[in-house]
Amino acid sequence: MSAVHAELSAAEGLHLVLGLQHTLLPNAPTLSALLPREGPTARFPSTQSHVLVQVSAEGRELLLWSLRRILSLSKAVLYLEEEVLGGRIGEGRDAFGFRDGLVLPTREQVLRNAVVPSGPLAGASWLLYLRFQKDLERFGHLKPRAQEYVVGRTRDGELVADAPAEAHIHRARASGAGENQLLIRRGFPFRHSGEEGLAFVSASADPDYYQRSLDALLGAGGQTPDAMLRYARAVSGGLYLAPPRDWFHSPSSPREATS
Ligand code: HEM
Repeated sequence: MSAVHAELSAAEGLHLVLGLQHTLLPNAPTLSALLPREGPTARFPSTQSHVLVQVSAEGRELLLWSLRRILSLSKAVLYLEEEVLGGRIGEGRDAFGFRDGLVLPTREQVLRNAVVPSGPLAGASWLLYLRFQKDLERFGHLKPRAQEYVVGRTRDGELVADAPAEAHIHRARASGAGENQLLIRRGFPFRHSGEEGLAFVSASADPDYYQRSLDALLGAGGQTPDAMLRYARAVSGGLYLAPPRDWFHSPSSPREATS
């Protein structure tokens, strides 16, 4: 992983996120299982792998080069379980046609909400990966206003004042995760073999915040389930720890045992 990190983080125009299953780390904290997780009408599965690599690149050539290099550098110790190729739609829409990633986090919000502040994991970040398949046909049968009630925003991102409690953004906000609090999230639309969906990746300082957020969407403990989960089904997911950059570079560090 140090070799992957060193080579790819030196490449210009490339952004790399590396996450490790936390039990691979020495002195890993004991966590209650986040995934799988179930509510009355939907489920978030676990397809936990050892390593999560997320790459975004300015061009397709660079992206393909990076994916090939990652496989080649890691093939002695890892095999590929899942690969998803996605790309931005228009000015940043999801496959349902709605603007996503509207409120960009400030640097201060990222540091406060996505980075472990102290202790042995200081500087690391907990990553949640969930891949959703979307039922475009079912969503497409809804009238435009009904679609906006599912999301809680118009297609162009305006808040829908009379959206019901089950609207996605109301459920997301119910957990306290609105406006870049608790977690910093990104949705990457993808299309694969005729299926479209969203690869959801987020970073948080505390994995307990994910429990709160996912339970609010699932409708656990008598809460209202998220209407979005009628049209988007989670098909894979896992929790990873993204170590701080210096963990990859200091051969004398005891943390080097993870590489
Ligand atoms: C298929 C799955 C999902 C889709 C299609 C989706 C789509 C959207 C859209 C269109 C918005 C409104 C645009 C924006 O505020 O940027 C939004 C907001 C949001 N979503 Fe999701 N999302 C999905 C999954 C999730 C999950 C799994 C979480 C949490 C674990 C989450 C948390 C949030 C939060 C916190 C907001 C912002 C609420 C606010 O500040 O107003 N979303 N999502």
